[in-house]
Amino acid sequence: MKVTVVGAGAVGASCAEYIAIKNFASEVVILDIKEGFAEGKAMDLMQTASLNGFDTKITGITNDYSKTAGSDIAVITSGIPRKPGMTREELIGINAGIVKTVSANLLEHSPNVTLIVVSNPMDTMTYLVHKTTGLPKNRIIGMGGALDSARFKYRLAEALEAPISDVDGMVIGGHSDTGMVPLTAHATRNSIKVSEFLSEERLSQVAEDTKVGGATLTKLLGTSAWYAPGAAVSSLVHAIACDQQKMFPCSVLLEGEYGLNDICIGVPVILGKNGIEKIVNIELTEDEKNKMQQSAEGVRKTNALLEL
Ligand code: LAC
Repeated sequence: MKVTVVGAGAVGASCAEYIAIKNFASEVVILDIKEGFAEGKAMDLMQTASLNGFDTKITGITNDYSKTAGSDIAVITSGIPRKPGMTREELIGINAGIVKTVSANLLEHSPNVTLIVVSNPMDTMTYLVHKTTGLPKNRIIGMGGALDSARFKYRLAEALEAPISDVDGMVIGGHSDTGMVPLTAHATRNSIKVSEFLSEERLSQVAEDTKVGGATLTKLLGTSAWYAPGAAVSSLVHAIACDQQKMFPCSVLLEGEYGLNDICIGVPVILGKNGIEKIVNIELTEDEKNKMQQSAEGVRKTNALLEL
């Protein structure tokens, strides 16, 4: 199993590290345009192998896509991250060109690759990859929902004063401060709805804190977060590489599901060896349905800025 990670920035490096630590891939290639940068990150990570107990071989390369040939999965993290006060949507101008070039380069050397898109604005970048590569929809996956759901569980556990392993919950919709739809009505603590334990006000606070999860970190760190994004990507890569048939919310091209068409947005999917094995249709409450429609409108506005 060969995995390529494009972009040796904080998210790319963290993603390569978590993939290696989970020890399921034979090879991880990190590629970056900055001379020597990916090589340095790869070498540093390889020097953790004996300490962290993994056998995954990590190599770094500067912009030579021929070295990514035969990748089974590739993760696109390239582009600029947001600065405090910026929305993910504001990155579109620069990142669209980068993501288009990167995906074309990857496919030239790995025609059978499954692509995981992380670059922001993520739903629109996933849609761009659909429009420009012609890859089947099961092999284009936008990473956002897995991260947003991890942040949702963190906030739920905080509110419940419970360990995170006690809680379960999912965030669907667009990966944006206003577009996320945390499914508070479905969230549980040990199979009991969290609404049994938390007031409506506290639950809406949890949802609001979840939606601005990335922005909160960007303000604290001066740039966007990397540990949770890297861990979320590695979970998706793991599910595909090991054919786990595991459910995650991911951004995927919808063709009628959830009443939406010609849009990539976060919905629950099953991930396995074919990438997206299935889109899972769940019954949403009226409120969730409305929020999902509003979220889709936001994503469409950003998609309209693409020069396709
Ligand atoms: C975040 C970025 C990866 O939410 O979108 O941290």
